[in-house]
Amino acid sequence: MDILQLDSLTQSLAITVPDQGFPEVIYWGPKLASNLPRGAANLTRKPLPGSKLVEYTPVSIIPEYGRGFFGHPGLEGHRGRIGWATQFQLQHAQREGDLLVLVGQDPTAQLELKVTIFCSSHLGLFRIGTAIKNVGESPYELEWLAAGCLPLPNNCNEVLTLSGRWNREFQEQRLVLPVGQYRFENRYGRTSHEYFPGLIMGEPGFGQEQGAVFGFHLGWSGNWRWIVDRSPHGDFLVQAGELFLPGELMIEPGQQYETPPLYFASANGLNDLSQQFHRYVCVQLVRLPDPAKPRPVHFNSWEAVYFEQDYEKLFRLVDLAAKVGTERFVLDDGWFRGRKDDRAALGDWEVDLSKYPEGLQPLIDRVEAAGMEFGIWVEPEMTNENSDLFRSHPDWILHVPPYHQPVGRYQYVLNLAHMEVSDYLFDALSRLLTQYPGIKYLKWDMNRDLTLPGGRTGRPSVHDQTVALYRLLRRLREQHPSVEIESCASGGGRADFGILEQTCRVWASDSNDAHERVKIQRGLGYFFPPVIVGSHVGPPTCHQTERKLSLAYRCAVAFSGHMGMEIDLRDLSPDELSILERWTARYKQYRSLLHSGYIRRLQTDDPAIYAHAVIAEDRKRFLLLVFFTDATLNSVQGPLRITGLDRTRSYAVSLWDKPEVPSPIMLGFDSELIGRTTVTVSGEFLERAGIVLPAGYPDSALVLEGNAG
Ligand code: GLA
Repeated sequence: MDILQLDSLTQSLAITVPDQGFPEVIYWGPKLASNLPRGAANLTRKPLPGSKLVEYTPVSIIPEYGRGFFGHPGLEGHRGRIGWATQFQLQHAQREGDLLVLVGQDPTAQLELKVTIFCSSHLGLFRIGTAIKNVGESPYELEWLAAGCLPLPNNCNEVLTLSGRWNREFQEQRLVLPVGQYRFENRYGRTSHEYFPGLIMGEPGFGQEQGAVFGFHLGWSGNWRWIVDRSPHGDFLVQAGELFLPGELMIEPGQQYETPPLYFASANGLNDLSQQFHRYVCVQLVRLPDPAKPRPVHFNSWEAVYFEQDYEKLFRLVDLAAKVGTERFVLDDGWFRGRKDDRAALGDWEVDLSKYPEGLQPLIDRVEAAGMEFGIWVEPEMTNENSDLFRSHPDWILHVPPYHQPVGRYQYVLNLAHMEVSDYLFDALSRLLTQYPGIKYLKWDMNRDLTLPGGRTGRPSVHDQTVALYRLLRRLREQHPSVEIESCASGGGRADFGILEQTCRVWASDSNDAHERVKIQRGLGYFFPPVIVGSHVGPPTCHQTERKLSLAYRCAVAFSGHMGMEIDLRDLSPDELSILERWTARYKQYRSLLHSGYIRRLQTDDPAIYAHAVIAEDRKRFLLLVFFTDATLNSVQGPLRITGLDRTRSYAVSLWDKPEVPSPIMLGFDSELIGRTTVTVSGEFLERAGIVLPAGYPDSALVLEGNAG
C-alpha cells in the first residue's frame, strides 16, 4: 500500500493510500529521517481481537461507524433518518503546495468528504480541516464532523486542559484517562472563560522538558467539543469539532460544511510543544498592518476612569501616560451616546456629545501631540434594551420567541447572520473610523454568553453567528487595513486561533491582579506567545480581588506579555511614576527579545514558583523571569535550570533589581548577583547546575539577564 508522508520542521505524519476505504494515520511523532517504506502499513496494522470481526477495519482519519468502528465516529448525520452510516472510498490524494488534499465519496450516502492537511517544512505545527458536501437531492442533517481524528500511543493517557471563570481563566487541570471516552465541551456560544479549546495528551507525569506530549487546538470561537476515545482494543484517538445544537446544521443539496481548523503538534516536553504553537501564531496566523512595528506600550482608560469621562480628566491622563512612556492610548467603554453605565447605549455608535461636546478630535489631537496613537473600545455584537438601536429593531437579537431571553450584563446579542444587522454594524464602525482617521486600534469586546441563540428562522444560530462575526471583522479590515483589532470578551472569553486570524492581540483576563495573571498567562502561554497577550499594570489595590501588590511586581508581570497599564496615573506619586517609566523603558529596550525569543518554562518542584526564560533566537542572550506567587517550600530555591541555551557559550548573568524587601533569608542569595555585579558561567552550567535563588516573598519577582560574550 502507498504511503504519504508529511514532514514538518519537527514532526512526521504518515498516511496510507488504501485501495479500499479512506486513509489511515499510521505514524505521527518526531520527524523521521527517511520516508516510511511502502510495506510499513503491514507492520502498524493491529491484529484482529479474538471473538470480534474477522475482517480488518482500518480506523481512518474520519473513522466510520459503517466500517465497523465502535468508538465515536468522525461523522454523524442523516437525511430523513437514512444515510446515517457511511463507507467512504478515497477518490484521490493530492499535494498542492503545503497542503495535502484527500477526497472521498460515498455514492450511497450521497456525500463527498474532503480532508485538507497543512504541513510546512518551516513550521512544526500541522493543521487539519474537513469538509462534507451534500451531493444528494435532499437536505442532510449534520450532527458531528470532526476536523480530524489523530491516533495516540497507548501510554499517553494523561490529559491537560485549561478551565476557569471570569477573572481566573486558563487554569491547568490534569487527569489520567482510563479506558472509555472523555469529553471536554463548550456550549457558551463564544470560546468561553470556562473551557479553552485546547488539549494536551502525554505520558503520565509529562513536564516542561520531559515526556512525549501531543497538543491540539481548535481554531473556533463558537461551541466546540473534544472527544478522546480509548478502547480496550488499543485504539486511542483524539478528535475535535464544532458542537451543534439540535437541528443546527442542515446541509442543503449542493452545499457543503467545513469544520474549523484543528492544529496539532507533538514534542518531548511542553516547552518544545508550545514553541510550535507560538511560531505558527507569529509566522502564519496573525497579520499585523505593519509587521515591522514593535508592539506599543498601552494605556487603557478603563480602571482609571470607568464611565466617568471628560476632556479634562482624559487630557491629564494623556499627559501622564506619555510621561511614563506609553505609546498607544486606548479610550475604553463610556465614550458613546448615552453610555453612562453598563445598562444603556450599546448599539448607538456615535460620540456622546454630553461628555465630548466637540467630539473625539480634541482628545485624539492631544494623544497624537504627545507622540502616541489612539485606540478605542467597541462592543459591536451587543445591544442594550435602553438604546436607540434596540428601540427601532427589537427583532435584531438572537432569541427564541416567546421564551424570555435572559440578559447578561444588561445586554442582548445581535444576530450578525442577519445581513441588515451586519451592514448596520459595518456602516456604523466604518463611519467612526472614517470620521476619525486617528483611530488606529479597536478593542473589540464581547461581554456575554449566548443563551437561546435562535436566528430568524428560529433555528440555533451559533455556527452562523460565529461565521458572520469573522466575516464582519474581515470586511472591516479590508476597508480599514491600517487599523489593528484586539479580541476581548470580558477578558479571556474569546482567545483562540479562529479569532486571531482576524485580530492581533487578546485580552487575557479582566483581572489585572498580577498574582492571578501569573497563572492565567502561564496557562494561555501553552498555546499563545506573549507577544499577543495583553498584560497591564493595574492599580495598587486590585479592583477584582482587593489584593494589594507592589508596583515592581505588577510591572514585572505586565512586562512579560504585551505590556500596558490600566491605572489612574493621577493617583501615583512622583516615585511611582518613575518606577513605571523605568519599566516601560525596559520593555521597549527588551521587547524585540521578549516578543521574538523562545519561551522555556522552568521545571520547579515548588508550586509557588513560576519561572520562564526568554531566549533569543541566536541564543546569545536571555532574560529569566521568576515570579513567587506564594510562600516558597524552602528558604533557598533551586537550582533553577535554564534549558535551551547554547551550552558552549559563556553568559554574563546579572540581576536587575535587588529583591524588593531585604531580609535575613536573603543571605542565602549569591552575594555577587545581589551586589549587581555580573557572574559569568557557561550555558552548560546554567542548564545542568542552575542558579540558586533566595525564597522571594509572596508576590514578588526577580529578573535576571544573561548575555553571551
Ligand atoms: C469588559 C472588558 C474590560 C472593559 C469593560 C468595559 O469587561 O473585558 O476590559 O473593556 O468590558 O465595559
